[in-house]
Amino acid sequence: MKPRVTIVLGLQWGDEGKGKILDVMAAEADWVLRAQGGNNAGHTVEIGKEKYVLHLVPSGILRSDVSCLIAGGAVVDPAGLVKEIEGLTKRKIRTRGRLHLAAQAHLVLPHHRAVDQGSEKRRGHGKIGTTGRGIGPAYSDKAARVGLRAGELALPTKELGRRIRERVAAHNHAASAQGWDKISATRTIREIERAARVLRPYLADGVMLAHQAVASGKRILIEGAQGTFLDVDHGTYPFVTSSHCTAGGACTGTGVPPTAIHRVVGVLKAYTTRVGGGPFVTEDGTLGHLLHGMGREFGSTTGRARRCGWFDAVLVRRAVQLNGVTEMAITNLDGLDGLEKIPVCVGYRLNGKIFREPPVEASAWAKCRPVYRVFEGWCEPTTEARHWKQLPRKARTYLSAIAEMVGAPLGIISVGAGRDQTFRHG
Ligand code: GDP
Ligand code: IMO
Ligand code: MG
Repeated sequence: MKPRVTIVLGLQWGDEGKGKILDVMAAEADWVLRAQGGNNAGHTVEIGKEKYVLHLVPSGILRSDVSCLIAGGAVVDPAGLVKEIEGLTKRKIRTRGRLHLAAQAHLVLPHHRAVDQGSEKRRGHGKIGTTGRGIGPAYSDKAARVGLRAGELALPTKELGRRIRERVAAHNHAASAQGWDKISATRTIREIERAARVLRPYLADGVMLAHQAVASGKRILIEGAQGTFLDVDHGTYPFVTSSHCTAGGACTGTGVPPTAIHRVVGVLKAYTTRVGGGPFVTEDGTLGHLLHGMGREFGSTTGRARRCGWFDAVLVRRAVQLNGVTEMAITNLDGLDGLEKIPVCVGYRLNGKIFREPPVEASAWAKCRPVYRVFEGWCEPTTEARHWKQLPRKARTYLSAIAEMVGAPLGIISVGAGRDQTFRHG
């Protein structure tokens, strides 16, 4: 049977609108698998007047006939996941029997949050601006081979308690020297035990589920979290998250082999945003002021105002190459509706030279200045457009030029947060 697996991931620094696009695409899917990241993610889906912000649960959960898996590449804060499940249940979204948690996923424990927050404090000026959710320390423990995995939530209480106590003792031993808060083992065990009681029925072998779905020809979406330039290998290191947010990470995170992937949808904004520290060549305070004034671009996880800037074609061209993007989903076109001039970055100027590829070092990246090509704005609302032809001519020119510059075809266009404010190119 021909596999029908599509990867949907971010091409910038996260918050590209993946949640919205996934929700739209899930109308024609059987499974949504969340590949990596943790509750540092915030994926917003607006359905009519209802607004959902999903952190760990795949966006497919809002379509009642779709099954969802939090795959082994993700890191799961047990109490956070329980809270999310309870929130969905209150809103009449059924999760039992539809949502599965891979036993392979690593756990984020309270001491990971203490390390994350303590380390950020110590970094002072050079801080990464993490979400403080313990993501980096949980992935560090995974790589150091001392992490606990979701499957261990099914252990007898005594053994699970012993394993947690061991981790907390090691943390507390190092805490004073490192400037981290100490953690109460008893409180941690109580918290994890309570979460384990709720989560046990959701546990499954994530790889087996994914392979069964692939083998039976199910339509599968792999949901990426964060974005290409937050990838620990390919992002603006060290201003990155600790997982692989690129297409390769979608495969390792789920166990779905690369040969089963037939489509890679890259989600991106018609401009650029980023939250936290790190280089951002096209950052523009005036654009940020304008978008924030419209009530847009505040983080869905932390509420922080996102940094805003112009579209960066140097960045997105690299992302298209890295992920093998077969089509793009461009969101937030309407954010540019009121502008007379719209610059797009086509090159980086560094030490008197112009580059078409981003530099390797974040410090060099921070010194790059944008070379802009300026487009005419369309100065009319796009939010009512439901077909490509209904977009203003200048908006079509802008989008087509972007696609040409970055080397990937336009697939989906989004002109508002709602499900219906979405259409295909052409
Ligand atoms: P994600 O993390 O990639 O899922 O993105 P977020 O949900 O964190 O941030 C994207 C924001 O843009 C959310 O508030 C969405 O509701 C909103 N959004 C998505 N597409 C559009 C669009 O085309 N226009 C507008 N106005 N908002 C959009
Ligand atoms: P979604 O899936 C935007 C950023 C943080 C920080 C850096 C490291 O909603 O697109 P972490 O807590 O992961 O160690 O923080 O990564 N970051 C995100 N930025 N969207 C996200 O997720 C993010 N997840 C992490 O702001 O700069
Ligand atoms: Mg987000």
